[in-house]
Amino acid sequence: MAATIKRIAILISGRGSNMVALIEAIQKREISNAEVAAVISDQRDAPGLLKAAAAGIETLLIERRRRSREEHDSEVVAALKTRDVDLVCLAGYMRVLSSEFINAYRGRILNIHPSLLPSFRGLNAPQQALENGAKISGCTVHFVDETLDGGPIIAQREVPVREGDTTESLSARILIEEHRLYPEAVNIVLGQLAEATSCPP
Ligand code: GRF
Repeated sequence: MAATIKRIAILISGRGSNMVALIEAIQKREISNAEVAAVISDQRDAPGLLKAAAAGIETLLIERRRRSREEHDSEVVAALKTRDVDLVCLAGYMRVLSSEFINAYRGRILNIHPSLLPSFRGLNAPQQALENGAKISGCTVHFVDETLDGGPIIAQREVPVREGDTTESLSARILIEEHRLYPEAVNIVLGQLAEATSCPP
């Protein structure tokens, strides 16, 4: 029996380079049995929206518009449900999710973070690494739970910190590995979802 195609939504707030990496990995079938159902941005001017549209993917702009976190998230969750989304990938989505959102997709929301978690959670992780004299940095893909960058880790990749590194040079080196790691992590999770839903013999 053919495996069912899993539908992925990617949530962005900015340039969307990890989003592009996921779209390309699906197009090249490095991620198998998956399609991008939609790209959702909370920012009107997110450059990633244009990149997603250019790839022929449905884009949605769901701005906060002075609503509470819960009200905003309920519109996002409704859009995901309407589109039968199986997996949600946060890719530079600069919002903390409400517990309603997390509960609606618990175990099926992924995030990528530019540090070796649990070190350097929150904003400006490469800068934190430099300020703390880290010799090794990296990136992490993890499940999203109620904690800040604290959910179960799916995959990590080390990146060396070099003498004379700036936040920009370290971030750029980490980003190259992010683009490799995120598709790998999605494959791991899709494999787990397929196992969980497969019928016993
Ligand atoms: C990445 O560094 C990611 O780890 C972090 O935000 C950045 C998003 O970059 N969460 P992009 O929008 O995917 O280019």
